[in-house]
Amino acid sequence: MNDKNFSPAAEPRKVHVACVIDGNGRWAQKRGLPRTEGHTAGEEALAEVVRAAAARNVGWLTVFGFSTENWVRPRPEVRHILSLHRKIFGRVDEMRRNNASIRWIGRPFKEKGARTPVYVQRAIDKAIADTAPNSGLVVTVAFDYGSRAELARAASRAAAAGPVDPTSIEKNLYDPTLPPVDVLVRTSGEKRISNFLLWQINGCKVYFTDRPWPDFDAAELDQALALLDGD
Ligand code: IPE
Ligand code: MG
Repeated sequence: MNDKNFSPAAEPRKVHVACVIDGNGRWAQKRGLPRTEGHTAGEEALAEVVRAAAARNVGWLTVFGFSTENWVRPRPEVRHILSLHRKIFGRVDEMRRNNASIRWIGRPFKEKGARTPVYVQRAIDKAIADTAPNSGLVVTVAFDYGSRAELARAASRAAAAGPVDPTSIEKNLYDPTLPPVDVLVRTSGEKRISNFLLWQINGCKVYFTDRPWPDFDAAELDQALALLDGD
C-alpha cells in the first residue's frame, strides 16, 4: 500500500430531514380512541425518531409540530397539543443523552399575530438554553409556524435593510442557520406539500408514506434516507 495516498474514510455527510407530521387523528380513530390519544402517540414517535436520527448521519431534524393554521381546531384538541409541546420541550435529559440540541421556529413571540402561549414560550426558552451545549443532532420544532408568514416577514425585513434578493431573504428567515432540507417526509398517505419550509425545501427529495405519524419509526427513517443514496 502506498502510505502517501492513504487517507481515513471521510465522515458521511450530515443531512437535514424535515417531517410533516400527519395522521395522528386517523391513527386514533382507527383504534376507536379520541384524537388526542393520537397526538400523544405522535409525541412518543417523535422521541423515537430523535433517537434514531441521532444514531444516523442526520445533522438536523425539523418537525412541523403546530402550524399557524392549526389554531382553528377544537379548543380541547389545541390544549392537548400545546401540553404535548411542553412535554417535547421538556425532554432535556433525553436530548442530552442523544447529544441533541433543541431549537424552535415560528412567529416570534413578541410580534403581531404570534400566538404561542406564555407557558409554551417558557418551555421553549428553557429547552433551547439547557440543550445548547449538546453538539450533535439539531432538533428544530416548528410551532405557531407558517412558511408564508416566515417569507413575508423575511422579505419585508430584507427590504428595510437594502436590496431584496435570495441572499437577503435567506438571512432573515426565522433560523438562517438551518441548512437546506435534504429529505422531506410526509406521513399518512397525503401526497402534498403544506405551508412548511417552502424556501428551505428547494431541490429536496420527498418521502411519502402511507403510515400515520405515530407508526413512523427508525425503519421508515432509513427508507427516507435511502432516497439520498448515490447523491
Ligand atoms: C398531525 O396529525 C398533527 C398536527 C397537525 C398537530 P393530524 O391531527 O393532522 O391527524 P389527521 O390528519 O387528522 O389524521
Ligand atoms: Mg392532518
